[in-house]
Amino acid sequence: MNSSVLITLIALGIVGALAFFAAIGFRGSGKVKDYIPNQSKYRNDDELETKTLDKTLTVAVIVASILTVMIPLYYLGEQNRQEEFVEAFDEVSVERGHHLYEEFGCGNCHGVDGSGGAAAYLEKRSGINVTWAAPAINNVFYRYDDEEVRYWLIYGRANSPMPAWGLEGGGPMNDGQLDDLIEYLHHMQISQQEELKSIESNISGALLRLETSELLVENEIIQQKALIDDIKKSPTDLPVIQKAVIDISELLNREGGIDTDEDGLTDSVEIELSTYSQNISEILGTSILNLDPDNEESVFGKKDSKVASSYLSELESYLINETIVFEGYDKFLNDAEVGLAFLEEALKNKLWDVSFEEIADTTFNGDLEKAQRAVGLFNAYCARCHTAGYSAGVAYTKKIASGGLGPALRAGRANIQFKEKQDMVDFIIKGSENGKAYGVNGVGGGKMPGFGAVLSQQDIELIIDYLRGMGPDA
Ligand code: HEC
Ligand code: HEC
Repeated sequence: MNSSVLITLIALGIVGALAFFAAIGFRGSGKVKDYIPNQSKYRNDDELETKTLDKTLTVAVIVASILTVMIPLYYLGEQNRQEEFVEAFDEVSVERGHHLYEEFGCGNCHGVDGSGGAAAYLEKRSGINVTWAAPAINNVFYRYDDEEVRYWLIYGRANSPMPAWGLEGGGPMNDGQLDDLIEYLHHMQISQQEELKSIESNISGALLRLETSELLVENEIIQQKALIDDIKKSPTDLPVIQKAVIDISELLNREGGIDTDEDGLTDSVEIELSTYSQNISEILGTSILNLDPDNEESVFGKKDSKVASSYLSELESYLINETIVFEGYDKFLNDAEVGLAFLEEALKNKLWDVSFEEIADTTFNGDLEKAQRAVGLFNAYCARCHTAGYSAGVAYTKKIASGGLGPALRAGRANIQFKEKQDMVDFIIKGSENGKAYGVNGVGGGKMPGFGAVLSQQDIELIIDYLRGMGPDA
């Protein structure tokens, strides 16, 4: 029961009780019972003008004061009641939004709590399957308003793993569902304090990426070479795996023999299966079984019969993959080699590289720390849209501020769009608005986020100084 209902009931109770007692008082004390009512003697004038009048007036004053108190109280409760209704409505919407978030797998890319994650994506320049960074969205309303977020949800982000979700964009969700989803996104936002607290770790993360860039690319090259080796092995591996699937199916269907641990696999099957898995593992790198005929759970907590059947499923899916690779052998090998050449070229060119000394000298009076912080900030907050390939990984990253979803900002372009530094500061604080002019000849699409609630003015100015200080050849 909510509070307004309670107040109403108490008020009714009090009024009712007063009416009851007043009625008893007026009834007279039934002095002479034998007269019929209209002939009985009533109170005399004296009594009527003093005691009775006083009593009536007192009751009237009490009732009036109770009403005076109850009506505003009821009014207050009514406000509350309506708010509670709206709240309950919102709660249901948040719940439905949460359900959509789970049903459509937003968490697979953005993290279950929306704190950011990654998605597999075929990078277009290299043809390599990369891990594309998916931004945090448990802070998205500090940079975008509802309409802008709705835009990204409806249309997704072409040329990135973010799919379209709205019907207009070719996705599955109607307007009501998008409302619920947005309600849920609001619900999952972290506090602004938390958002601001992440600045330093975001900067150091971005600087660490720069420091370890070469290593990261070398590592990708090693993986790409392993992929090429795997493809080259497919003609010799395929017959082995085909035979293994047949042999092991037969083995698991074999009947008769002693089954000491009574797990459904005879002793001889357990021993043969273990040896077989060992032998093909040397060729295929598949897992090795060590089944003990005396123990139905050779590995604690896993039934031997279950282990054997999932081993067979593992080989079967291996067979499917290997068949696909074998049938498209030339294309797979060629693509992988093109990818390797791309990575080796990237390692040679190091387009991601920046010289802090140079930036410090040209822009920050030799202050190396400022130069590092400016680059760290740019890479953490701007690069995913303004540096080509940044989200795909180091090897795919082109020159800093070379332009991606957002325009190129390098080579002093910022000075062409914004004559005054202050105009640029205002723009970065607010972001763009759909259809509104900005700078000298910009027209906003509402896609550039505002950073006023995310970064301090000092940090924003640091980024701007860095961009404005870039020479025309940079
Ligand atoms: C397959 C992975 C994937 C799935 C699934 C996915 N997203 Fe995204 N989303 C991304 C990526 C990647 C980006 C950033 C694209 C880029 O690099 O420009 C993004 C961008 C966004 C943005 C814009 C954020 C910004 O600041 O740029 C929002 C909002 C968003 N996603 C919400 C959602 C919601 C809600 C869902 C579930 C309905 C969802 N996404 C499902 C990968 C995904
Ligand atoms: C989610 C993608 C995204 C992020 C992140 C982003 N921007 Fe933008 N930016 C854009 C887009 C898109 C435009 C073009 C205007 C539009 O379409 O609304 C733009 C425009 C600009 C412009 C105007 C350029 C011109 O020549 O017209 C500047 C300057 C700029 N951004 C700076 C920044 C800075 C600095 C940061 C980081 C603090 C940043 N942006 C982060 C997407 C982004």
